[in-house]
Amino acid sequence: MSDNHNSAGGMPTTGHVWDDDLADFTNQPPKWWMLGLTASAIWVVVYFVMYPAIPMAMNGTFFEGVGLPGSGKWTAIKELAEDQKVLDDYRGKWEDKLKGMTPAAILADDDMSKYALASGKVLFSDNCAACHGQNGVGTIQGAKFAKHEQGLMAPILNDDDWLYGGTIDTIHETIANGRQGMMVAHKDMLSAQEIDTLANAVAKGEPTSTPLFTEKGCVACHGADGKGMQAMGSANLTDKIWRFDGSLEGIKQTITYGVNSGDPKTRVAVMPNFTAAGKLSATEIKKLAVYVYKFGGGKADAPAPVAAAAAPATK
Ligand code: HEC
Ligand code: HEC
Repeated sequence: MSDNHNSAGGMPTTGHVWDDDLADFTNQPPKWWMLGLTASAIWVVVYFVMYPAIPMAMNGTFFEGVGLPGSGKWTAIKELAEDQKVLDDYRGKWEDKLKGMTPAAILADDDMSKYALASGKVLFSDNCAACHGQNGVGTIQGAKFAKHEQGLMAPILNDDDWLYGGTIDTIHETIANGRQGMMVAHKDMLSAQEIDTLANAVAKGEPTSTPLFTEKGCVACHGADGKGMQAMGSANLTDKIWRFDGSLEGIKQTITYGVNSGDPKTRVAVMPNFTAAGKLSATEIKKLAVYVYKFGGGKADAPAPVAAAAAPATK
């Protein structure tokens, strides 16, 4: 306790001795450790000056222009904006190129269609899936569906069966301008017996098997062969692919009250006009056209005259 050196090694101690022999050395910590400690103390000061360090209600130490935002003027918001700009610059090149391209030209360009597909997928989920189902599978599965689903009445898009045509241009036109097929209500034009006969013929996929089909004017819209006309989106009645309820009762209802006919019991089927609503930009609509085309329905577009002649004309 007297000279602050322990008897054994002569090392400097704190001067406290226990049990006659146990003492505290006063060795310095290792150099590397001291250097680290000093360096971090200096870093604290530098960091405090450069970055917003004292949290305040607004943003960082003090809001911009007032007090001490740090000499580096760093903020998380700025960093985000800078990162965003890098991304926008990257996308900008693609977006600019897209602007000058027709949907068909985008399709023909591998890189551009990949880019269009990636954004098209997101756009579809946000704008179209509510009515057409994720990936265009439709919200109405099979011929039977609950009454409450009838308000949407949006067709399945991931097949090669098109009401208005499956070329890239007709699909683009549909999205840009909207569609609203119209079939008049026949409740005042046909007797119950006639509706029954027509519905049975249609249910079998043989609408032309009854002379009523021509006599009562169905041909005017569905064509002499009953296969429909893409120009007006009238359904193909020979393929047994049902746009609406395909049960006998369902078909009777369609014939009786029509589609978008204004009758209170009519089937309502309105594809919104996405240009007029200002909901989508021209490039967004092009991306969607490519995305929808690539569902597989694009096959109808293939320049194969034989296949085209055999393909179902509508729906
Ligand atoms: C409010 C529901 C609704 C929304 C939202 C909607 N659609 Fe439609 N869509 C319909 C209906 C209903 C039809 C059928 C119109 C008809 O029968 O005349 C249709 C038809 C179509 C067709 C034509 C199908 C064919 O067989 O020719 C395409 C393509 C299409 N929609 C794509 C889209 C895309 C892409 C979006 C998103 C930008 C979208 N739709 C959003 C309801 C909707
Ligand atoms: C003014 C034109 C027009 C006339 C006339 C017309 N239809 Fe239609 N019909 C349509 C259109 C358009 C659609 C498809 C509507 C849609 O999908 O938006 C349709 C759809 C249908 C459907 C539903 C098919 C399905 O897939 O669910 C049936 C059934 C049908 N028509 C039967 C008839 C019969 C039978 C007649 C004659 C009594 C007739 N239509 C007369 C325009 C017409």
